[in-house]
Amino acid sequence: MKACYPGTFDPLTNGHMDIIERAAKIADELVVAIMVNPDKKVLFSVDERIEMIEEAVRHLPNVSVVASEGLTVDLCRRLHASVLIRGIRAVMDYEYELQQSTANMMLDDTIESIFLVATPELSFISSSVVKNLVVSGGDAEKFVPQAINRKLKEKIHGNHSGI
Ligand code: COA
Repeated sequence: MKACYPGTFDPLTNGHMDIIERAAKIADELVVAIMVNPDKKVLFSVDERIEMIEEAVRHLPNVSVVASEGLTVDLCRRLHASVLIRGIRAVMDYEYELQQSTANMMLDDTIESIFLVATPELSFISSSVVKNLVVSGGDAEKFVPQAINRKLKEKIHGNHSGI
């Protein structure tokens, strides 16, 4: 079974990695899809996000990374992926995911959504929490892969911060 895990990943966090590692055990092939939403203000460019995620998933041979615009179900069709993976951290996520997956179901009912419940210790992490932490002078080492933490510090504090 080929599955697709879409998101913005600005940046990818350990919460996303939890979902990716577990989904990679369920699916034969997993495609992490950076979905470009022109209305969403992002810190990292698409190319930067591709590079960061590719590095983070290098140890997972059945995981690849793509970037795409438009509808997620259209991307799934192009990729021949029959399953959409999403993570659920809290009830708030469930309500949003229910709406999204119902819309996706109406667009293409051959693509099934599968939800993985976040590992409890990671359920509070979001990309914004991580960015705000670093902006405020904190260290996100416990929340993002090491290479991404380095990129975050460079991006937010510049190369001359001495961090
Ligand atoms: N661990 C850590 N963070 C998580 C998480 C997890 N398991 N699950 C969600 N998040 C966080 C993200 O970090 C992000 O945080 P932020 O708001 O602070 O940046 C937030 O939850 C939402 O992120 P994401 O999962 O990337 O969802 P999204 O809302 O940005 O995008 C798409 C979701 C891309 C799947 C959806 O918008 C989409 O399909 N877009 C294409 C158009 C389409 O097909 N729409 C559906 C039919 S109308």
